[in-house]
Amino acid sequence: MTTGVKTHTISFVKSQKTMVKTQVEYRVSPPVTNQELNTLFASAWPDHNTWDFTPTLEMSLGYVCAFQGDRLVGFVNVAWDGGRHAFLLDTTVHSDIQRHGIGLELVRRAENLAREAGLEWLHVDYETHLSEFYEKCGFKNTTAGLIKLKD
Ligand SMILES: CC(C)(COP(=O)(O)OP(=O)(O)OC[C@H]1O[C@@H](n2cnc3c(N)ncnc32)[C@H](O)[C@@H]1OP(=O)(O)O)[C@@H](O)C(=O)NCCC(=O)NCCS
Repeated sequence: MTTGVKTHTISFVKSQKTMVKTQVEYRVSPPVTNQELNTLFASAWPDHNTWDFTPTLEMSLGYVCAFQGDRLVGFVNVAWDGGRHAFLLDTTVHSDIQRHGIGLELVRRAENLAREAGLEWLHVDYETHLSEFYEKCGFKNTTAGLIKLKD
């Protein structure tokens, strides 16, 4: 299984005049707190409610986190059926650092994680406006279904 820390450098515009370079570090299944995850999710998901992620992380095949220094700026979870299928959930990049390739890197590393675990299929579902993102990640379109069980 993939372990260890890998980094990539991204450049982003901090203000109209300043372009900064920053290092983003990717870790597979590192220790991460509810506070870090809730802060990240609150920035990227408009309807996010504070949530206890502990059971999700415990049930996961693994997850990938992106850090800018000490700050959690990205997360994706690889849920597992115990057999040949994994399901990508909660791909999230902090709102102030989106569109710099972090999402693509997270998904690429999540795919490696599932591949190295010997699984055969990686699934994801998403809203239509994210088709381009998941196509760039390498997913092929399929028909899928969803039932909302709780309001
Ligand atoms: C979706 C998300 C994870 C993408 O992460 P990201 O780091 O911003 O994406 P990347 O920079 O790796 O995007 C790579 C490419 O995917 C496409 N893409 C990414 N986000 C997109 C969006 N919101 N709409 C359309 N295309 C998008 C673009 O082609 C982009 O390349 P470009 O920036 O050169 O045009 C991030 O926008 C996010 O956290 N959104 C809120 C939470 C969410 O909806 N998650 C999806 C769960 S299914």
